Amino acid sequence: MKALILAGGAGTRLRPITHTRAKQLVPVANKPILFYGLEAIASAGIKQVGIIVGDTADEVRAAVGDGSAWGLEVTYLPQDAPLGLAHCVLIAKDFLGEDDFVMYLGDNMLRQSLQGFVDTFEAARVAARNPTLGGGASDAPAAQILLKHVPDPHRFGVAELDGLGRVVRLVEKPADPPSDLALVGVYLFDARIHDAVAAISPSPRGELEITDAIQWLIDHGYGVNSDILEGWWIDTGKLTPLLEANRLILETIEQRLDGDVDEESRIDGRVVVEAGARIERSTVRGPAVIGAGTVVRDSFVGPFSAVGANCRIERSEIEHSVLLGETSVVDAGRIEDSLLGYHVSVGRSDQRPRATRLMLGDHCNVDLA
Ligand code: DAU
Repeated sequence: MKALILAGGAGTRLRPITHTRAKQLVPVANKPILFYGLEAIASAGIKQVGIIVGDTADEVRAAVGDGSAWGLEVTYLPQDAPLGLAHCVLIAKDFLGEDDFVMYLGDNMLRQSLQGFVDTFEAARVAARNPTLGGGASDAPAAQILLKHVPDPHRFGVAELDGLGRVVRLVEKPADPPSDLALVGVYLFDARIHDAVAAISPSPRGELEITDAIQWLIDHGYGVNSDILEGWWIDTGKLTPLLEANRLILETIEQRLDGDVDEESRIDGRVVVEAGARIERSTVRGPAVIGAGTVVRDSFVGPFSAVGANCRIERSEIEHSVLLGETSVVDAGRIEDSLLGYHVSVGRSDQRPRATRLMLGDHCNVDLA
């Protein structure tokens, strides 16, 4: 089995945070989202990984390299324009060959390991090939999808099941969803998907949709199995889930203090202070991570905060917030439930007239105290 990771596309939904950066590299608990996917693929025993890259290809290559850090062999597959998830399969045809593969959306994060999902697919295919179990090769499922009950299905691909739990229909971001079962960004396919992606036409939004390709399999009588995901799953391409993903991952960290903590500071609970970080006359209450080279001085960093590398926090309080990196927060009072990008500066001046002065990019949101 191979893996195909989709790390191209345009990160429009996360602007301005990913206006210039790959949304798959936005950190969760100070680790790029994409790395969680690579770890999951490696621990499912898969070695050969194709990564679809677009405009942000250089950045993705610099972060992932040849994949050897995870024991993987990575092949980069450039996509000229984000023409859809099924288009990614189309251009990966030579890399994938006749092999079964897992397709993994690079901006998705899930807690559950991939192993069980892969095992179920392979077991169904072995059973179908075994005449003593009553199967014939044509009974083997051509695809397996992962579904999750969600409160807002209109934001996702949505599956409709029959009374026996079989997938009968898939629709992409429907205004009137037929169920609350969203398609999670992890799919298993055999080589029949190549016929499907070659047969479909672009959707009204101009993309070759993977939901249409899977629908094509169903319409041609090929089996599409489904599994319901029990653990949490987050499509981090949307803003609020990013804070939520941080919270969920931070809940699982253990204390590690590799940086300097002075005698007047207090570290409460599960806190990671990376090497080169300094905590001076401050309290850090976990779960929280403080990135390499960051200085926290005369401040409080509260639970569920992820402070990236080379930040400066002085005479301020931060809680349930993410600072991506190279950002300074000085004399800022208390900041909660916030996401600050790279090279952001939040401060206070004595300039007259006293006022709040802002320089914000597109699609920013400010909630004043
Ligand atoms: O997150 C789950 C959802 O992902 C599913 O429920 C939907 O059925 C599926 O269409 C997809 O919807 P999104 O609108 O969230 O997909 P997005 O455009 O964010 O792309 C997902 C990933 O694939 C992301 O890492 C970017 C990458 N991508 C996307 C496109 C359209 C590519 O590499 N190339 C592309 O052409």
